[in-house]
Amino acid sequence: MPFKPKTLKRWRLASLLPLLIALALAGCGQTDINLVNHTPNILDPKGPVALQESNLFWFILIVSTFVFVVVVSALLYSIFRFRARPGAPEPRQFHGNTKLEIGWTIVPSVVLLGVLIMTITTMFQIQQPASANTITVNAIGHQWWWEFQYPNEHVVTADEMWIPTGTVVHVNLVSDNVIHSFWVPQLSGKTDVIPGHDNSTWLQADNAGWYRGECAEFCGTQHAHMDFLVHAVSSADYQAWVQQQQAPAAQSTDTLAQAGAKYFISSPCIGCHMINGVTSNANAKLIGPNLTHFGARQWIAGGVVDNSPANLAAWIRDAQAVKSGSDMPAFPNLTQSQIDELVAYLESLK
Ligand code: CUA
Repeated sequence: MPFKPKTLKRWRLASLLPLLIALALAGCGQTDINLVNHTPNILDPKGPVALQESNLFWFILIVSTFVFVVVVSALLYSIFRFRARPGAPEPRQFHGNTKLEIGWTIVPSVVLLGVLIMTITTMFQIQQPASANTITVNAIGHQWWWEFQYPNEHVVTADEMWIPTGTVVHVNLVSDNVIHSFWVPQLSGKTDVIPGHDNSTWLQADNAGWYRGECAEFCGTQHAHMDFLVHAVSSADYQAWVQQQQAPAAQSTDTLAQAGAKYFISSPCIGCHMINGVTSNANAKLIGPNLTHFGARQWIAGGVVDNSPANLAAWIRDAQAVKSGSDMPAFPNLTQSQIDELVAYLESLK
């Protein structure tokens, strides 16, 4: 069937479409860090693991783009050059072409071998930590938030992992519920967090900054609200943070916060939450985050909302309305003044 100019135009349009979509998506990258809305870009790596992964991505993209261009050009050339024309004779009839068939078996094998070698090399390289300075963090996947324990520093936090720059951070991955996946797109690849099979990974940040991490394995209704922040800071700032985290809960001079502190130890909160130096349930299996330095954190409940007094009050009153399915129940019987006191107290825990 001969090609009509109209059909040709449609073909041209159709081949432009992927390009237009790619251009539109390329405009989505953000450079400013809005803590809650920041979308991390895997093509903007900030540490050695993510850098090697992104290099591999570019290598495979270039190779496959080359293959795509060659194959599609040959295809389009054949379609237009050898199309049927009105009154043209029957084309020459033949079967097979041994040289061509050997050629298009060998060339793709060589290309794929190149991709395989690069992939395996990258896999081995990212197993090798780049620096001798190390710290260890246990990342525990809960439903649905991350707990970070620093076993050597005796620090426990939630939603936020502080690390020194230029330091290898060994992350032990633990889950006591379902499978999660630990991922900091600008610093590390994804590693599954499997119950009963402790896994580990490592990451390193070259520059100071906030990096958003997320759970990359569907783990239930609030999987999308299981984010965390990695805050990379200088070695001195990290030491200062560790000392501040090791200190017991702050004693506020604010009267509302003091009333909250008094109320907290008789409130239902202590059934699930620990505050170092205040509650004595250190050995209980607590299902909520340790709140000792809650006021210093950026987020509440896996990044579902920013940590602000108004958001915290809404969370305490009816967590299910903020993040349905979470382990935090609603407390309809709390009075407004009890909530105000608790909020003032918890926000004072810097
Ligand atoms: Cu945890 Cu998805």
